Amino acid sequence: MGLYRVRVSTGSSCCAGSNNQVHLWLVGEQGEAALGWRLRPARGKEVEFQVDVSEDLGRLLFVKLRKWHFLSDDAWFCNWISVQGPGASGNEFRFPCYRWVEGDGVLSLPEGTARTVRDDPQNQFKKHREQELEERRKVYRWGFWKEGLILPIVGNTQWDLPRNERFREDKDLDFSLSLAKVLKDLALKGTLDLTNSVRRLEDFNKVFPRGKTPLAEQVRNSWKDDALFGYQFLNGANPMLLRRSRSLPSRLVLPPEMEDLKTQLEKELQTGSLFEADFSLLDGIKPNVIIFKQQYVAAPLVMLKLQPDGRLLPMVIQLQPPRNGCPPPVLFLPSDPPMAWLLAKIWVRSSDFQLHQLQSHLLRGHLIAEVISVATMRSLPSLHPIYKLLIPHFRYTMEINVLARSNLVSEWGIFDLVVSTGSGGHVDILQRATAGLTYRSFCPPDDLADRGLLDVKSSLYGQDALRLWGVISRYVEKMVSLFYKSDGAVKDDPELQAWCREITETGLQGAQDRGFPISLESRAQLCHFITMCIFTCTGQHASTHQGQLDWYSWIPNGPCTMQKPPPISKDVTEKDIVDSLPSLHQARTQKTFIKFLGRRQPVMVALGQHKESYFSDPGPQAVLKQFQEELAALDKEIEVRNAGMDLPYEYLRPSMVENSVTI
Ligand SMILES: [Fe+2]
Repeated sequence: MGLYRVRVSTGSSCCAGSNNQVHLWLVGEQGEAALGWRLRPARGKEVEFQVDVSEDLGRLLFVKLRKWHFLSDDAWFCNWISVQGPGASGNEFRFPCYRWVEGDGVLSLPEGTARTVRDDPQNQFKKHREQELEERRKVYRWGFWKEGLILPIVGNTQWDLPRNERFREDKDLDFSLSLAKVLKDLALKGTLDLTNSVRRLEDFNKVFPRGKTPLAEQVRNSWKDDALFGYQFLNGANPMLLRRSRSLPSRLVLPPEMEDLKTQLEKELQTGSLFEADFSLLDGIKPNVIIFKQQYVAAPLVMLKLQPDGRLLPMVIQLQPPRNGCPPPVLFLPSDPPMAWLLAKIWVRSSDFQLHQLQSHLLRGHLIAEVISVATMRSLPSLHPIYKLLIPHFRYTMEINVLARSNLVSEWGIFDLVVSTGSGGHVDILQRATAGLTYRSFCPPDDLADRGLLDVKSSLYGQDALRLWGVISRYVEKMVSLFYKSDGAVKDDPELQAWCREITETGLQGAQDRGFPISLESRAQLCHFITMCIFTCTGQHASTHQGQLDWYSWIPNGPCTMQKPPPISKDVTEKDIVDSLPSLHQARTQKTFIKFLGRRQPVMVALGQHKESYFSDPGPQAVLKQFQEELAALDKEIEVRNAGMDLPYEYLRPSMVENSVTI
């Protein structure tokens, strides 16, 4: 009974509008009214109209809409619908959508106030949330990629994905055009590479990118320095492997003539300054054969000492673990002939490239984010506060992962073509690494404590990860306290419990053995789990994605493959090194893909800066604003800190961290 003012907002991407007509209905506590309005949504526009409703609808619960087409189904991207009334003094209700409307079915949009099951004592939304989950479970099905791995979304190509998970036009265009450009360059220049070879280390300048980063330039100039070699374990592309030694590793067999080294190692151990990077996960991995040429993989161990000035310096490198019946492996030392020591370090860098890309970046960043994303779509209805909180952190993750599975780590993919662990070894590494997916390792306060890095001031990754974790954690706590007033409210939320189980038991394939929860018993436990989810989809991925361009553009600092076996003597020449490193063709392919994947994304949403407003209630909006303010303050702090540094650490600056895994 009265006049309602209706506003409809359409997305701004180039195909967001629709030529089809849209019918709307208002559904209130006391009745339903067809608005009789046939709307044609225009891209980027907010359409407003008024309609006189003769029934008394009571408080509005839903807007229903149906898109009607005569000839072709023209999908419409609806941002939200807002309804104010009855009359000028009536309340305004917001109905968030932020998805594609396709086909001619009826879509019900619930009013945007977040509600758990408990917040709906009259069961006004019960049927809606059940039906929505039933529908979603049909669309978001778990798939299977390889035995022994965590689960992906079903589908082999991006075309198999739900429309709402696909890149929008701007991202799609940028991705396709830049990929086409790099492939064209690769085809043109790569053909010449087959007739050229690398004779000296300087020849890798031929594939050093023109648009390099300042840090990549520093790497090219100083890559042979022990300090830069050690620095990378703290703040390089892969800061996830280093740990403080608690004892001398059993694999480190020290011959009697190295008594001095043993004494030095024990001294560093006693003062807590001894660190190790152990690549044992690579031991026994079958190396690739590329164009009939055998490639090689090693499983090094590096022992390093932390200097009082914060520099981390290598003390000894063992390239392979000892084998029964074989002489103990050669130990390489900084005092060795320069070429022997350099080749040992290059072997470590190549091993780090493998574990970084597969274990730290793909598995612990991309694939885990996908598990959380699929489980959320299957378990939490759009009314649920935790759905509203998490959904901005899943944008484009399923598509980028499908693209990675079908182009990078697929049969005949980039790994098979140029990486030493390609053609199957990479899958073995992922399987082995899966066993190390502990809950603690995804939570920086626990992970850094377990690795003995909490008090290492020169671990800029560690410092920034802790601060970012803290900011996310405060955001989550404030948000959770709005919706859960007691631990009992957490325990009694069946949707939340099902969501947690879906992640741990199904998506992660039984990760409760590794500390992941299968139920959430308290608000504190819930906050910790959600903080882990958001940090994983943002900071965790950013810290292992963003360094690629800096650290791998100069090929000898991160070779994708090694073409000779690891040295077993210290009689090494520059030719031995050059012959071990990737061919020019392999190097160019590495550079091309590192440049494509590692470049700053033009279509990018920074952490916490999403424009979608899933919450209608003012409380969560205020909490998001506080989050954005804290992120801005942290960004400034890191900027000031970096200003005085030779090697600024940028990967966890909030303005550089993407809001979700999109590349
Ligand atoms: Fe990535």
